[in-house]
Amino acid sequence: MMNHRKMFFLAMLFCVVVNASAQSIPEWKMIHPGVWKAVIGKADAMTLLSVADARPNLQAMSKLPSKSFPLPKGEISMTVVDHKTYLRFPLEKGEQLYGFGLNFKNVNQRGKIFNLHVDHYDGQDNGRTHAPVPFYVSSNGYGVLIDAARYITVYAGSGVRTDAKNPPELMDRNTNKKWSAHPYSDAVEILVPADGASIYVFEGPTPMQVVQRYNLMNGGGYLPPKWGLGFTQRVPTLYSQSDILKEVQQFKEHAFPLDFIGVEPGWQSMAYPCTFEWDKTRFPAPQAFIDSLSRQGIRANLWLNPYVSPVGTLYPKLKPLSGSHTVWNGIVPDITIPKTQQILKEHFFKLHLQLGVSGYKMDETDGYDSWLWPDVATFPSGFSAEQMRQVYGLKMQQMTAGWFREMNKRTYGLTRASNAGASGMPYVIYNDYYDHKDFITALVNSSFAGVLWTPEVRASKTAEEWVRRIQSVCFSPMAMLNAWADGTKPWSFPEVEKAVQDVAQLRMQLLPYIYNCFAQYHFEGKPPFRAMQLVDGFRFSTKDQYMMGDHILVAPMFAGEKTRTVYFPEGKWYDFYTGDFVGENQSLVITASLEKIPLFVREGGIIPMVPPHFHAPAPGEKLALEIRHYGKMPASAELYDDDGVSFDYEKGMNSKTKLVVSKNEKGELKGNLIRSSTEKVFSYKDEVVWKFMTKQ
Ligand code: GAL
Repeated sequence: MMNHRKMFFLAMLFCVVVNASAQSIPEWKMIHPGVWKAVIGKADAMTLLSVADARPNLQAMSKLPSKSFPLPKGEISMTVVDHKTYLRFPLEKGEQLYGFGLNFKNVNQRGKIFNLHVDHYDGQDNGRTHAPVPFYVSSNGYGVLIDAARYITVYAGSGVRTDAKNPPELMDRNTNKKWSAHPYSDAVEILVPADGASIYVFEGPTPMQVVQRYNLMNGGGYLPPKWGLGFTQRVPTLYSQSDILKEVQQFKEHAFPLDFIGVEPGWQSMAYPCTFEWDKTRFPAPQAFIDSLSRQGIRANLWLNPYVSPVGTLYPKLKPLSGSHTVWNGIVPDITIPKTQQILKEHFFKLHLQLGVSGYKMDETDGYDSWLWPDVATFPSGFSAEQMRQVYGLKMQQMTAGWFREMNKRTYGLTRASNAGASGMPYVIYNDYYDHKDFITALVNSSFAGVLWTPEVRASKTAEEWVRRIQSVCFSPMAMLNAWADGTKPWSFPEVEKAVQDVAQLRMQLLPYIYNCFAQYHFEGKPPFRAMQLVDGFRFSTKDQYMMGDHILVAPMFAGEKTRTVYFPEGKWYDFYTGDFVGENQSLVITASLEKIPLFVREGGIIPMVPPHFHAPAPGEKLALEIRHYGKMPASAELYDDDGVSFDYEKGMNSKTKLVVSKNEKGELKGNLIRSSTEKVFSYKDEVVWKFMTKQ
């Protein structure tokens, strides 16, 4: 038995140890304009941002207004106890929270609990998702990022402390109908299972400026090659090279646009696990195959997952550099080790990049607990299974993006896992879940997470669903039909073939505008597809409509629905197709025909368009410009352009043309295109057609 003196001594020792490991007043340093950082305890050597390895765009960040640290410093607490880091940030009444990764069900996250964990999405917003980015944006105009590659638990305004500054009202459930099982909470509380962490706070003052700073700190958004914004078809798993060439022919016969073909697992001599080597029976002549596509203006994107098959040539080289556990009998290369990266690079360059492969679809990096490496796995780098899970998809993106950059070629591909720091990555997230409405909410939420998302279309029960889904995907970062399992073609439902073709062509016509939106993502950090909550002064709550750039509001329709509610921000809004006034700062129930996805343009919206075409313009190809103006007011916009394929734009090989609409003496609107004197690239014909869509 321990005597009292001994117990007292041990208790005192315990207090000293706890206090010695705890810190509570963080020291905040402004590290970039409007971005503040604090390090608590001993942060991990490998973090999300260290893996993403992006260079901040300081020049663009310094153009955003920055005043002071946006939160009451004294109300933030950070403590390290027993190898765990506890963080607390205050919340005000009425404040809403957005973000916490790629969620599919909700946009308003206050009151939710998340365990941020890279995983496939299984139908619940619980933090397990393809991009569980530990970043949130407040409606009050600030943001918080926890830069730790850990399974982070977040109580986003759900726990109530005994010492809460603003405790919930005490209610008697017997008598008070307002009693709630989830009473008000005045803090976000976060548990990072590590000895410390790096925390970033972003100033606004608007939610959009918070997001801009976050994206710019991560290098600015990715500017895809022009062809990446055209239409892409992924073919059935076992298609051979001749099947694919026949499919390309069918696209021509159906007069359907096509910029790149997605080649699914069958290109490899073994898949699940993978050899990353061409299958000799289905793809006897890969170079001839790629060349034949290329002559037709089409590129190839290759599917893979990172698990290395014992029958491939990479296996013996990578075996000593792989984790302790297999996935489907394949080894898991430790891609945090430079030697592993080098071995993969040599193989991929020789067999794919040098042949002209345009990019990859990197599958299965999100994992399912039932087949992925377990949390007890070890890796030769010494990083834990948990850390590897949180960064694997991110590292695959960073590594492969570097290969294409080395060749001065822009790529644009797919990933199923991502995390913080990914804004500048050339990858779009997709998944196996298939709920049209939830896909739109994910698109909305992607703008709070610095990632791109495609609501890919695969199959449909009815022609109505088919056309509605295609309409949505044509208004997303990647217009993709993924036919790997179903073999569907855009024309699979003949009764809506024309409507499907029209919306695909509308996307092609809008390419100058969409490319502009991505240029804005790159140079200013504004997401190309974004939540309405990022529009200044937007006062409604919605999760199924979004903005494409500054000017176009997209309100997708879903099968079975003939009408829908659209929430319009302040300012006047016009119908994209007719130019007619629709509404301002209000919600309206609109009716939409099956053939059209509802699109609205804000007052003064200037939309540069080109004629219908089948492939994104190649470098040097010049298309005619039609510039539309909506509303009754003078306005101006910028038209960004470059060669569309290389990184030469970073060295000034680009142009920013001014599009100005003004009123003449008679009060009529007139358009003027002003080319800059420093312009290096301009892929449009000289004659420009201005279309004033709204009756004056
Ligand atoms: C899935 C992926 C699908 C398809 C398939 C091929 O994991 O999400 O899009 O590529 O693998 O086997």
